[in-house]
Amino acid sequence: MSKHIAIITGASSGIGKAFLEEIANDRGVNGATPFDEIWAVARSEDKLIEIKTLLGDDRIVPVTADLSSPEDMTRLSERLASEKPQIGLLINCAGMGMKGLVEDHPAKTLEDTIDVNCTSLAKLTRICIPYMIVRDLSRTRDKRPRIINIASSAGFLPQPGFAAYAASKAFVISFSRALYYELKDHRIIVTAICPGPVKTDFQRKATGGAQADFTGIRKYVVADPVKLAKASIRASGKGRQILVYGFSQKALHVASKIIPTSWILAIEKKMMPVEKTASEVKEDKGISGPDESAKEVNTAGGI
Ligand SMILES: NC(=O)c1ccc[n+]([C@@H]2O[C@H](COP(=O)([O-])OP(=O)(O)OC[C@H]3O[C@@H](n4cnc5c(N)ncnc54)[C@H](OP(=O)(O)O)[C@@H]3O)[C@@H](O)[C@H]2O)c1
Repeated sequence: MSKHIAIITGASSGIGKAFLEEIANDRGVNGATPFDEIWAVARSEDKLIEIKTLLGDDRIVPVTADLSSPEDMTRLSERLASEKPQIGLLINCAGMGMKGLVEDHPAKTLEDTIDVNCTSLAKLTRICIPYMIVRDLSRTRDKRPRIINIASSAGFLPQPGFAAYAASKAFVISFSRALYYELKDHRIIVTAICPGPVKTDFQRKATGGAQADFTGIRKYVVADPVKLAKASIRASGKGRQILVYGFSQKALHVASKIIPTSWILAIEKKMMPVEKTASEVKEDKGISGPDESAKEVNTAGGI
């Protein structure tokens, strides 16, 4: 019999790491079958090994891969073809985004955002599907194969100052919801997760190091990654198509459906503060460092 595995991308930090901990700690409680292996995918091999050591779980298999690289994606695909596992859970969590105006970004940044957030998510999902299809369609819901795609409330609306990221997350929501129906006959559950701001390293990376924490209204609604991971696993266990996490994000979701987008965008534009590049912020603080093109901009929408 082939081994039963889970795959988690973006497992080296933040939300993906929280998912990895949750899945590793779930040793068959609540009727779920413990996985034989948990493939933890990210570029930072050292971080993956550190987490594996910390959790002391031999089932964790660090898989070092740059998901924006077609070669690494081919390697992953070949590994699956050679090991032929049964994939019970795929969590597409790897993601990135750089704040700033499109005109100020290097074209490569836009390309990387789309490659990691959209192309790799769609490709990895496609590669994994054949290993998720099970013959025994009588399985109870909690034992059915599941895909959890980490989108964002940023995907509800266009976001000036975070345009490519918001558009990439709109892709994830749309792709996941269509896939839910495509895979229904195979009894594979697909759940899109839409959190607002979450306390991870994301904000620091998205501002080129200028802001480690969320500011403005968003600092009052920051979610905890562990609670988010638990809620996401629960939502997928219930067979839900989408989880909009937190009251504020649910309100934003409803607003995005009833208020004309042009009105919201006009307000967003007004709320954008005077922009500063990360290097300007560093200059203000008297810190010298490499030039960064990301701008310190605040957007009213989700993240
Ligand atoms: N934090 C938030 O406020 C927030 C809100 C809504 C949605 N999200 C979404 O949640 C997901 C996780 O973000 P996070 O907050 O946990 O941020 P994070 O701490 O920066 O984690 C991002 C993860 O993605 C991995 N990753 C990035 N580029 C990659 C690449 N090219 N190849 C392979 N792995 C790559 C990173 O690993 P390596 O660097 O080791 O490769 C890391 O494990 C993202 O999809 C993000 O868009 C975050």
